[in-house]
Amino acid sequence: MDFSLSEEQLMIQKAAREFAQQQCLPGVIDRDEKQMVPKEQLLQLAELGFMGMMVSPDYGGAGMDTISYVLAMEEISKIDSSVSVAMSVNNSLVCWGLENFANEQQKQQYLIPLAQGKKEGKLYIGAFLLSEPEAGSDATHQHTEAKDMGDHYVINGIKNWITNGSTASVYLVIAQTDYTKGHKGINAFIVEKDTPGISVGVKENKLGIRGSDTHAISFTDVKVPKSNRIGEEGFGFNFAMKTLNGGRIGIAAQALGIASGAYELALAYSKQRKTFGKPIHEHQAIQFKLAEMATKIETARLLCFKSAWEKDQHVDYTTSAAMAKLYASDTAMWVTTEAVQVHGGYGFVKEFHVERLMRDAKITQIYEGTSEIQKMVIGRSITK
Ligand code: CAA
Repeated sequence: MDFSLSEEQLMIQKAAREFAQQQCLPGVIDRDEKQMVPKEQLLQLAELGFMGMMVSPDYGGAGMDTISYVLAMEEISKIDSSVSVAMSVNNSLVCWGLENFANEQQKQQYLIPLAQGKKEGKLYIGAFLLSEPEAGSDATHQHTEAKDMGDHYVINGIKNWITNGSTASVYLVIAQTDYTKGHKGINAFIVEKDTPGISVGVKENKLGIRGSDTHAISFTDVKVPKSNRIGEEGFGFNFAMKTLNGGRIGIAAQALGIASGAYELALAYSKQRKTFGKPIHEHQAIQFKLAEMATKIETARLLCFKSAWEKDQHVDYTTSAAMAKLYASDTAMWVTTEAVQVHGGYGFVKEFHVERLMRDAKITQIYEGTSEIQKMVIGRSITK
C-alpha cells in the first residue's frame, strides 16, 4: 500500500491551493454576505482545467484521476465552498454522467464545452435537477412529468434546491415518464436552460454557501427532443444514483476541505493568542481539541482517498463514497464548531473566517444525500 502522492497530484494540489489563496480568498467575506455568485472564479477554474478534471482529453477534459479531484476540492473548499460546490456539480454530476452514459452525438454537443467549462469565452456549466419540493431524500417519487409525444417529450413540474440554477447553461433533468413502472419509468434528459417554458425562481437566501446560486426551476410544457434522453427508456433513476455515487466523493472532499481550513486557522490562532501567560495551544484543553481535529480530518481524508481510488480502479465505490461523505461531513460540522470555540469571541465575528466555515459545513450533511440517506446506503450494503 502506497500513501504517497504522485508528482502530478502534488502539482494539482499546489495549483488549487494557489488558486484558492490568490483568487478565492480576496472578497470571500463580502461575497458571502452579499450572496454574490463567484462567476469570475468559476471562469478561472475553467481556465485551469478544473471544470472537467476527470473527463478524457478527447472530450475536452483534463484526464486527471479522482484523487487529484479530491485534492483540488479540498484546497478550494478550505477557502470558498460556493466556488467548490459549482465545480463539484459540474465535474461529478454533469460531466461524469455524460461521459459515461451519453451517446456520441450528445458528448460532442454538450460534454466538450461543459468539460471545458466555457463556450465562446463565456462560462458554460451544468446543473443536476433531481430534487423536488416533495422528492428530496425520497427521490424515486418524482412528480415532474416527461410525457412521451413520439419524437419528443414534454416536461412539466418543479425542481428544487438546484445548485448552479441560474448560471448553468445545461440542465440534466430527471423526470417520470411512466408512473405505472415506478423508478423504472424515470428518464434523464439534457435540457438547454433557455428552452421556452423554463423559469428560474429567486435565489435561495441560505445559511451557508451563500454565493452559490441555488434556485427552484419550473417547467411548463417544455419540449425536449427524444435525442436528448440519456440512455435507454427508463434508465433515468439508475443514471441519477450512479452519478450521485461519484458526487458524494466530491462533497466528502468539500467537507474535508471545510474541516481542514477551519483546523489550520484554529492551529495558527492557538499559537498566536496568549492566555494565563502562554500561547493557548499549550493549554491541554486546547491541545486536545487540536489533536482530535487533526485525527478526524486525517480519517476523513483517508476515506475520501479510498473511495476515489476505488472509483479509479473501476470497482464498486457506492459504500465507500457514502462512508466518506457521512464521516467527512460530520467531521466538518464538528471541527468547524470547535474551531470557533478555540477562537473564542473572535470566532464569532466574520473577519476570522471560521464562523463562515461553520455555516458552510452544515449543507455537506444535507445535499447529495443527507447523512441519514448515507446510513441507509451503507446499512443496506453491509447487511445484504
Ligand atoms: N448506486 C447505484 N444504484 C442505486 C443506488 C446507488 N447508490 N441506490 C439505489 N440504487 C438503485 C437500486 O439498485 C435500484 O435499482 P434496480 O431497481 O435497477 O435494482 C433503484 O436504484 C431503486 O433503489 P431502491 O429500491 O433502494 O429505492 P429506495 O426508494 O428504497 O431508495 C434511495 C432510494 C437510495 C433512498 C435514493 O432515493 C436516494 O439516494 N435518495 C437521495 C437522493 C439524493 O442524494 N439527492 C441529492 C440531490 S442532488 C444534489 O444535492 C446536488 C447539489 O445540488 C449539490
